[in-house]
Amino acid sequence: MSALEGYPLLGHLPAWTGEPLELLERHAESGQPFWLRLGRPAIVGFHPEWNRWVLGNLEALRSRTSFSRWIPHLNGGVITLDAPQHRPRRKELAEPFGATWLQRWRARLSTAVRVPPGRFEALRWSDTTTLELLNQVFFSGDFDPELLGRYLAPLRRPFPVPMVPRPALLRSVQRELARLTELRRGQPGRDLLSSLGGLEGRSEELRIALGAAHDTTSHALAWTIWHLALHPEWNTEEGRRLAFRETLRLYPPGWMGSRVAARPLTFGALQIPRGSLVLYSPYLCHRSQVWESPLSFLPGRFRGRIPAWGYLPFGGGERTCLGMHLAELIVGVALEALGGLRASWGNPSPVAGVTLGPKGPLWVERAAMAGRARWQQASQTP
Ligand code: HEM
Repeated sequence: MSALEGYPLLGHLPAWTGEPLELLERHAESGQPFWLRLGRPAIVGFHPEWNRWVLGNLEALRSRTSFSRWIPHLNGGVITLDAPQHRPRRKELAEPFGATWLQRWRARLSTAVRVPPGRFEALRWSDTTTLELLNQVFFSGDFDPELLGRYLAPLRRPFPVPMVPRPALLRSVQRELARLTELRRGQPGRDLLSSLGGLEGRSEELRIALGAAHDTTSHALAWTIWHLALHPEWNTEEGRRLAFRETLRLYPPGWMGSRVAARPLTFGALQIPRGSLVLYSPYLCHRSQVWESPLSFLPGRFRGRIPAWGYLPFGGGERTCLGMHLAELIVGVALEALGGLRASWGNPSPVAGVTLGPKGPLWVERAAMAGRARWQQASQTP
């Protein structure tokens, strides 16, 4: 039996933990939702109507028992709350994570970006920059950076490493959060920690948000740097925004979203037994014929209308990414600091783990400061 058909006992799990993108692409050729065996039956869809159905059905499609429960960094907080508790919790978190509120950290973030030397490796730089900027927004930069890096590192490793519980490390992080909570007493609105006030479960929400935030944002940043270096004509204020969206379309760090059917369900002619995994795939959807020339990098497409429920880098519906505006802010500030870019050499191929990331390295050159304006001007000429 081939790996695509699944092994008798393990089903598609070996292929899923090895080359999941290949597995998905092969099955998606039929254009229809398809079943995989991932320890339990899993149905994968990627058309807009499917996305709308999965993301709009919080009552029958549950998050608590989905993939995130296997990853200790993501197993908690709002990510694992289901209806009816999910909605009020999102309301409580909405303001500090909203676009308007976050703007108050912009100046602080701009000064915290460490501009790299002329030639730099974008994946590593994005990793450390995202870590520093998250630390600034969440904790005014006061969280022990070494501990923060160590805490988040397992998420970037291949499966099953991210699934391994690390109780001692978790306790250190909880102690650090308790220390900072004490430090922020009487300092309202200084950072996300103090902006969340006396919210019950605040430390847990922040710890889980960090897990959801770091690799997604740093991978998106690294890939956007790479694309801007290859296509410098997009390295303008508007162009960077469009290039970021197009990068997220081709390389969505959240490549697969998961839910569990709380009861038997039907979708068209499809019968979905209770307990099945129900998956939606931004990766497959963004690369499907829903988009014109789906595999080409064409940021200008985002000036026009985009297919409804066909663009899901941040998910959709009530569970849309809580950190979407924060990710945009961090990426915007980081790109602004870099100025003109030229690609040197690298391997941007996507590798799927907890998040989708570039294989790397991604070596990039910053245009010399003196020549930058001239070079940018030249590169913007059609
Ligand atoms: C480019 C960066 C990011 C990408 C691509 C991304 C992607 C996503 C996606 C696809 C979902 C929906 C998952 C689902 O439907 O199951 C999601 C949810 C979530 N994201 Fe992000 N994310 C990013 C950055 C962030 C940041 C910076 C934070 C932290 C502040 C964050 C926190 C969350 C949380 C808490 C949820 C769960 C929301 C809920 O269930 O109500 N993300 N993210």
